[in-house]
Amino acid sequence: MGDRPRLLMCRPEHFSVEYVINPWMEGQIHKSSRETAAEQWARLHEVLGAHADIELIDPQEGLPDMVFTANAGLVARSKAVPARFFHPERRAEEAYFAQWFADHEFTVAELPRDVPFEGAGDAFIDADRACLWAAYGSRTELTAHPHLAELCDIEVVSLRLIDSRFYHLDTCFSLPGNGMVMYFPGAFDAESRHRIEARVPPEKRILVEEADAMQFACNAVTVGDRVVMNHAGKDLEAALRRAGLEAVETPLTEFIKAGGAAKCLTLELDPAVPAGTSASHSVTSREVAMEGHLLDQGLLERALDISVRAGGTFHVLQFDLGRQQQSHSRALLAISAPSREQLELIMPQLIELGALSRPEAPRTRLEPAPQAGVAPEDFYATTIYPTEVNLDDEWIPVRNQRMDAVIVADADRKAAHCKLFRNLEAGELVVCGSEGIRTTRRQQRGANKKDEFEFMGAGVSSERRVELVVERVAWEMRRIRQRGGKIVVVGGPVVIHTGASGHLAWLIRNGYVQVLLGGNAIAVHDIEQAFYGTSLGVDLEQGRPVREGHRNHLAAINRIRGHGGIFAAVEDGALTGGIMYECVRNGVPFCLAGSIRDDGPLPDTRMDLIEAQREHAELVAGADMILMLSSMLHSIGVGNMTPAGVTLVCVDINPAVVTKLMDRGSLESTGVVTDVGLFLSLLVRQLQSAAGDGD
Ligand code: ARG
Repeated sequence: MGDRPRLLMCRPEHFSVEYVINPWMEGQIHKSSRETAAEQWARLHEVLGAHADIELIDPQEGLPDMVFTANAGLVARSKAVPARFFHPERRAEEAYFAQWFADHEFTVAELPRDVPFEGAGDAFIDADRACLWAAYGSRTELTAHPHLAELCDIEVVSLRLIDSRFYHLDTCFSLPGNGMVMYFPGAFDAESRHRIEARVPPEKRILVEEADAMQFACNAVTVGDRVVMNHAGKDLEAALRRAGLEAVETPLTEFIKAGGAAKCLTLELDPAVPAGTSASHSVTSREVAMEGHLLDQGLLERALDISVRAGGTFHVLQFDLGRQQQSHSRALLAISAPSREQLELIMPQLIELGALSRPEAPRTRLEPAPQAGVAPEDFYATTIYPTEVNLDDEWIPVRNQRMDAVIVADADRKAAHCKLFRNLEAGELVVCGSEGIRTTRRQQRGANKKDEFEFMGAGVSSERRVELVVERVAWEMRRIRQRGGKIVVVGGPVVIHTGASGHLAWLIRNGYVQVLLGGNAIAVHDIEQAFYGTSLGVDLEQGRPVREGHRNHLAAINRIRGHGGIFAAVEDGALTGGIMYECVRNGVPFCLAGSIRDDGPLPDTRMDLIEAQREHAELVAGADMILMLSSMLHSIGVGNMTPAGVTLVCVDINPAVVTKLMDRGSLESTGVVTDVGLFLSLLVRQLQSAAGDGD
């Protein structure tokens, strides 16, 4: 090896676009000209040949992409790791490239069979930073990276490609020389950009614009101080010049039709590898087991999707398909992520789907709370789903299930329960990490399906749909009332503004509401209406503002204050109708949680929010159904303290509110986008007609 680099190329005798395996090839089948391609290739060969020694591999008929020798493999210290192509279309190239390496005094080191790796197209040895930059997310599989680290004795830095146009690392990243790194940031996810930034100081970065990247500017080969590429924009040229490098353009448009350019057409055979490096990488893998209606309920698909979206990859190690509608399927997956931290972000989401991390040794890790009200850093955050933890080889159900809490084990490790941070005592044992934790969700296919109904999802509801939903809600409410169950209503003041307070009062009076939750406002407007017939000064009969009406709600608050509270006002015979009146008369407990915008407030309103949250949680416990009526804040608050299994019905005119609530919801959630006044009047009519209830 002299000063001149040695490059491997392949004449484009059989080059053409014959299939589509990347977005550049779309619409280009048989559209490239072999003549022009030959000219462009010859010109590139000439430009490079002036400064490099070029070796050639024989082209093969039927292998049109073999010209892209960058994908032949990765070469380091006279060792060659041949590619394992992702797409079957290119797999026949592997043997020719491997043979060429063997014939040219390379030691051929093979990767395991089923691990895709596309050679120098996806991996760059960086002598300046003594590392190997390796891509995943498109062609090369993340789990190839640990093998590359071992085979090349070098630290591997994993970069995730997220834009299908930039499907190989060499389409969006290159090392043009003089310690520079040139790349198109948009092709990488945020973690990968941070990994680049952590190793390359700003003055060594050349950020390539999308327009240049689209012309394969990153797909460059450096010979000496000349950076050879299809095209470089003015700014890129200038940036290279400032770095002491010269951009040399040579047109490669025919090859771009196949998704490749200068760099793809060459393989560097003697890349400089720093001495004394040793193998390292941060790829972390974990086995995860899932069981249930994995296909019917879409659980497997969601698990795989979650892993990939969060920057990980998966490998299905085992899958036993349940053959009948009622039978369960079982899957064993290996989930990999570029770092332990990233894996730990994926795991809780899989646990929420019912997956079990490290099924062979499900051991829950407990760490003491470092101080009162503070959890250990890697605490496990709870979900709405019933959860179990494995303490001393026994699965223990977690009590008081709710989301956004931590799990605390008793000192004797025989019981566990959900606890909010603020209630933690120093030294209490908190469940950490993601092992030895499992959740169960309701299985949709199965024995007790017949008496449940699902009308899932949020969305704008048509009139007919609203009617259908109301029918079913009424049906379930009747059943709950019959068996002495518990219906919780969370309401906002809109219930009154829309003229529906009479309907809600009817529901309370007739035993369809066991708890009322809300803020100061629903009570104030209800009482204003009871006293003055207005809601925020608007006459609800006439629909117009009344004179001096704006002070009515203050006057209502004032009067209740005069009595000392809502109960006293009812007892004193001052408050004689409305929602709050019915609650008092029918012994329905309520809790009004205050906020900073509250007028008054009413003496009954809990301005100590921690107290209000505690009371809400107490009142919600054991609910069968929660009706959320046009109150985003209170509904979300209540949703967080509700375990799965409770039917949630969320009604709001604003689709965004319904979507937001349903997002955190469970299978049992129903979103209805409609006017809450209309909903309540339909509901009352349904209940009256079916049960013969009068007023
Ligand atoms: N059509 C080829 C493929 O999709 C183009 C390969 C380009 N090579 C590269 N190193 N980017 O595999």
